[in-house]
Amino acid sequence: MKSFFVLSLAPFIQGVLGSTEISGGSPATIDSLPYLVSISHSGAFACAGVIVSGQHVVTSAQCVYGLEASPTSFSVRTGSSKTSSGGSVYTVTRIARHSQFNPTTKDFDVAVLKLASSISPGPTVQVIEFIQPGQDPKDGSECVASGWGDSEGQLQSVTLPIVNRDTCNQSYDGKITNRMICAGSEAGKGTCPGDRGGPVTYGGKLAGIISQTHGCELFGLPDVFTDIANSNIQSWIRSQ
Ligand SMILES: *[C@@H]1O[C@H](CO)[C@@H](O)[C@H](O)[C@H]1NC(C)=O
Repeated sequence: MKSFFVLSLAPFIQGVLGSTEISGGSPATIDSLPYLVSISHSGAFACAGVIVSGQHVVTSAQCVYGLEASPTSFSVRTGSSKTSSGGSVYTVTRIARHSQFNPTTKDFDVAVLKLASSISPGPTVQVIEFIQPGQDPKDGSECVASGWGDSEGQLQSVTLPIVNRDTCNQSYDGKITNRMICAGSEAGKGTCPGDRGGPVTYGGKLAGIISQTHGCELFGLPDVFTDIANSNIQSWIRSQ
């Protein structure tokens, strides 16, 4: 543990001194991530989300847990590189949270927000396609995670290699399920808590939702995403 600590310290310092949002990534704008939205609760930035249909946004269940009965306290901003200005804002009228979501283990970490009106599409506002069900990205291939990290954050994207599920499961003491996909493990490179709910893409399609974030922490644990290739998760989203 000690030597691991020393080895991990240098990248950690580099990662953390720079930012509190996605670490080790590069700046991005909404033009390259037109399916990304910011979700606010009671007027304050809460989470990221992803446009999956003309009136639906998908996010992490952690973002709405316990608040499902008050959808109108949430709003969604589309088409902006900032979390609190620009673009268009929509009121949420219904929150569907996966009934099997477990707040302790983060299993089934997915929710769908229905908006009061249809999203107006444009160059910075687009629906994203899902990855093919049952076709998890191959181990070692690259996916891209994006988000703001916190309300003041600069929008960023980071490229992370997919980590083999069994290897990841060992790193997490057997707590990884088939509804989860892991990527990254370099200390100081990955996603942070404020990135939750945001998109992970593979070949331009939605492959994951940012769920358990460790990229901005000292120890190089993989980040864990809700697996959109999992057929239960994908068909549940589609049925909302
Ligand atoms: C992770 O490991 C635990 C304990 O060995 C096992 O029960 C579980 O099925 C594993 N998860 C996956 C997705 O294989």
